[in-house]
Amino acid sequence: MSNAIGVPTNRVDGHAKVTGAARYTADVKLPGLLYGVLVNAAIPAGRVADIDTVAAESSPGLVKVFTHRNFPKLTRQKSPPLGQTVSPLQDDKIVYEGQPIAFVIATSHERAMEAARLVRAEYEGAPFNTNFPEDKSSGVSKPLFGMPADEHHGDIDGALRQAPVTVRETYATSDRHHNPMEPSATTAVWRNGELDLYDSTQGIADTRKTIAQALGLPEEKVRVHCDFIGGGFGCKGYVWPHELIVAAAAQELGRPLKLALTRAQSYTAHGYQPATKQTLTLAAGRDAKLRGVRHDVVCSGSRAGDHVEPAAWGSRTMYASPAIAVTHRSVVLDKAHPTPMRAPIEGVGMVALEIGMDELAFQLGVNPLELRLRNYAEHDPMKGKAFSSKKLRECYAEGAARFRWPSALPPPGSITDRHDRIGYGMASAIFATFRSPCAARVSIDATGQVTVASGVQEIGGGTPTVLAQVAAEGLGVPVSKVTVAIGNTDLPAGPMSAGSRITLSAGSAVQDAAAKLRSKLGDAGGATPAEYTAALARLGVSSLSADGSWTPDEKDDTPIYSFGAVFAEVAVDRDIPIPRVRRVVGVYNAGRIINPKAARSQMIGGVTWGIGQALLERSEMDHQLGRFLSKNLAGYLTPVNADVPDIDIGFIDEPDTKAGPLGARGIGELGGIGIGPAIANAVHHATGKRVREVPIRPEMLM
Ligand code: MOS
Repeated sequence: MSNAIGVPTNRVDGHAKVTGAARYTADVKLPGLLYGVLVNAAIPAGRVADIDTVAAESSPGLVKVFTHRNFPKLTRQKSPPLGQTVSPLQDDKIVYEGQPIAFVIATSHERAMEAARLVRAEYEGAPFNTNFPEDKSSGVSKPLFGMPADEHHGDIDGALRQAPVTVRETYATSDRHHNPMEPSATTAVWRNGELDLYDSTQGIADTRKTIAQALGLPEEKVRVHCDFIGGGFGCKGYVWPHELIVAAAAQELGRPLKLALTRAQSYTAHGYQPATKQTLTLAAGRDAKLRGVRHDVVCSGSRAGDHVEPAAWGSRTMYASPAIAVTHRSVVLDKAHPTPMRAPIEGVGMVALEIGMDELAFQLGVNPLELRLRNYAEHDPMKGKAFSSKKLRECYAEGAARFRWPSALPPPGSITDRHDRIGYGMASAIFATFRSPCAARVSIDATGQVTVASGVQEIGGGTPTVLAQVAAEGLGVPVSKVTVAIGNTDLPAGPMSAGSRITLSAGSAVQDAAAKLRSKLGDAGGATPAEYTAALARLGVSSLSADGSWTPDEKDDTPIYSFGAVFAEVAVDRDIPIPRVRRVVGVYNAGRIINPKAARSQMIGGVTWGIGQALLERSEMDHQLGRFLSKNLAGYLTPVNADVPDIDIGFIDEPDTKAGPLGARGIGELGGIGIGPAIANAVHHATGKRVREVPIRPEMLM
């Protein structure tokens, strides 16, 4: 019987967060702490011809100005978890606007800011291009997270040639920035040749490894701490120049040193979701069954690294089709480096696939929901293997019922409400489940207090609460008797909080540790929480611990995906065509739902994220200057409360034991997938205008 898993549970750290007791990285205070401020390149390409630091060096409270001329040499690294391959302050070369060219350190943050203002750089500019070329053949092919850039099965050319009905269109997504509430911050403290790094990071273990490599240290000499993260969304997943700079500069100075990035700096410091152009071809018979799916992605890249958005991955898996081909190319531009952003991969590519499916439905004259059902993938279409578990059919059914999705969709532009045109749109959601090895320790003391320890991080989704629930369930104690220690590399090692992997990976490790602890207690005659204390006494110990772990079977290539069905209603004013989302229904299948309360919050956040993707979020570039234009939340639009309607979230809650022992699959990023194209499809249904670019701006509907 379940006492904790599946029970809607308040956040164990909620009180600390809302009262301000929770300590974030920029809150770290230490005696003798110095403060650093970065100076950023004002041009996108060329070199620093000269850099004058004299005025800065005579500024009050100044401790040191680092430039490429005097910065410590770092060991060059090549791949993630490094965010970009260009190491900071190693030479005079500039490959993106915003690249750090100096690091100014003073006795207070304000003094460092003032001194940084006095650094004068002279540049020798080089020709540059930040604009996506119309000619997409210029893209280069790069591997994607170790997977091939191009994949296909079946006779795609034959299918596209012979099918009676074809949709072939190009869809565009925009550069989008993560904009977490907490900008990145790092504090480095060296003692006796060992580094304590307090860092706002989604991956303490990866940060430790990457920093140690860059500085040429054994990993044991580095400890990384991160108690809380005020949102990451992927920009804190990898290790970026500012973290390397702080660690190396503090070592050189032998004093503790803190850097907190400004909001403006965060637009070039740690990635963004790259713009894509995606050409999608769907070929179908008159029976509305797909015969071919071709999805070619070109993604905005940079000279600073290798990130390519694997946007077409969803098209390999989403629908049954005898022929599927996907390709990915990156166009190297003179821009800061992109990186994964919440709901990456499928979240970007499903914009094309799901608007394309809507177009196909209208062309065939079938209900968009019916088209999805007719092409339901009973097994992974590329691999021909059964999914670990898939309850998407149930998601469609429940979502359609809750939304009251019409069995015959009225013609576009025909539903009105006073001065508005009303539209309905729907889409599927899919997100690959990532799994990683994880270790955990569960302990109990003589008072019956349970402690869970695992080196994972709280990105905001509710990790400590979920881990407390899993331990409480395993030991049969209330969640209130469990404390959770995370965010420290001295703890049993865990993976990065990215790719929606933590509940499954860390939860499975905690489950294992709790089971082992329970059997130790059982061996001592403690079968119930009431007997645990006596069992400890019989063993003559004041506390007892068990180490647990979980490692996914690397040889197991079972397709493991989370799914969803998303329905949206929009209103578009006849004269001022600003689309407003009126209601959303999302029904999701992500295995066993550990904390329905936190899971619902995650999906509401994801849907809000999708409203941004569909209607608001776009990082404008000035292609004359080669820089992002509006590096702040006034110029970068995100949904506010007035943009977010009632969101009705449901789950098809069934354990997926093939995904892992806990029965859970990935959930965090799933909510941000499908909703963007569902809204775009609703805008088409309201207005009759098909916009193939997100965000959809009012001028596109005029
Ligand atoms: Mo998420 S973009 O995988 O941090």
